[in-house]
Amino acid sequence: MISQELNDLLTRTGPGSDAGAVMRHYWQPAALSDELAGNRPVVPVKLLGEDLVLFRDNDGELGLIGRACPHRGADLCYGRLEDNGLRCPFHGWHFNRDGQCVEQPGEPDGSRMHERILNTSYPVIEKNGIIFAYMGPGAPPEFPNFDCFRAPDTHVFAFKGMWDCNWLQAMEVGIDPAHASFLHRFLEDEDPEDSYGKQFRDKAADTDIPMTKLLRDYPRPDISVEETDYGMRIIALRHLGNNKTHVRITNQIFPEAISIPMSSEMIITQWHVPIDDEHCYWYSMFTSFDKPVDKEVMRAQRLKEHRLPDYAPLKNKTNTYGFNPEEQKHKTYTGMGLDINVHDQWAVESPGAIFDRTKEHLGKTDVAIIKYRRMMRAAIASLSEGSPDALPMVGGEDVKTIYGPISNDTIGDKDAWREAFETSDRARREGCNDWDATI
Ligand code: FES
Ligand SMILES: [Fe+2]
Repeated sequence: MISQELNDLLTRTGPGSDAGAVMRHYWQPAALSDELAGNRPVVPVKLLGEDLVLFRDNDGELGLIGRACPHRGADLCYGRLEDNGLRCPFHGWHFNRDGQCVEQPGEPDGSRMHERILNTSYPVIEKNGIIFAYMGPGAPPEFPNFDCFRAPDTHVFAFKGMWDCNWLQAMEVGIDPAHASFLHRFLEDEDPEDSYGKQFRDKAADTDIPMTKLLRDYPRPDISVEETDYGMRIIALRHLGNNKTHVRITNQIFPEAISIPMSSEMIITQWHVPIDDEHCYWYSMFTSFDKPVDKEVMRAQRLKEHRLPDYAPLKNKTNTYGFNPEEQKHKTYTGMGLDINVHDQWAVESPGAIFDRTKEHLGKTDVAIIKYRRMMRAAIASLSEGSPDALPMVGGEDVKTIYGPISNDTIGDKDAWREAFETSDRARREGCNDWDATI
């Protein structure tokens, strides 16, 4: 358990907050490219507690500016998308993608007042289906050479979903390898042939054992963590007997993303982005080392579970997450259906919007959570000492030299598990013919 003061320090991300200042040193997912695909590319974005509006201008360039009109506060999401910018419908003030007011058609002829009116604006960049924003000081950092950014657009599918809770409890489920044996337990195994686009439905490594069976049969992983240049590597070992060990390598990418294996073909890079302190979006990039991603199938699977335009899940606390006690007896550990996102959503939402961590009791399996909180505290301390370069991937070494990270499931000899996951990852990368995945 931690003090209330520390809980506040770690969870609050609005303007002026300490953890929020750390996050503002990194590119943040702001929207899916899909959201701007309609014939009026203007969407509201709430990010780190700030109300913004994202639009694509006549040049096809993106702008992310303050949502409230600097004149008298009207909502620019209803703006007229014209003249290469966004025009407020209240008095016609016109803003370009940099937030500069370029025209005030009701002010006296020749007035130059508009030159002094600058709306908030943040740099944005589009990467493989996600529009990222930089809300921090100075120049934005470079993007690391992670697989989700290196792979061509054809091999990456992006999606998102809203959760009604603080970002930290959402992220903490992603760095907790023990829960997969319980929360996502299926009492019956599906045919792994039907696993496309689904987590934990493939075969374990190169065996015929369904991943669901392996997780069920070996619920006590031996978990360790290693600090890395991008954050932390999390190693979960499940010793299978016969001198064999299942190795699952997942990662915390500082400050609020994870990278995990999904199947032999794909990995998932997932950000847990604060909307405000009581709501967050998960943004996932599914990256394929094999065939191009079947985006139609992946999108349809997920749209079945979410409503647009806000990507809120259809199963949620208002309908008890679809909880079915019969199903819980016979089919799933949760009784909440087969979509593991719903299980995670229940696990992170049910402790309350901001979990009161003065009441928690962390065990041995929570080692990555404990380590992560230390890393966030260290980052906060570095900023307060005026050393932003000490933050992972912000200063110092060239961010472009950071590859991977290795996200992998494999089975190897008990005493050679490290060689096993390195060899298996290398083989997958060497077998990737459509893009250069080698590191
Ligand atoms: S409130 Fe926007 S132009 Fe007046
Ligand atoms: Fe999970």
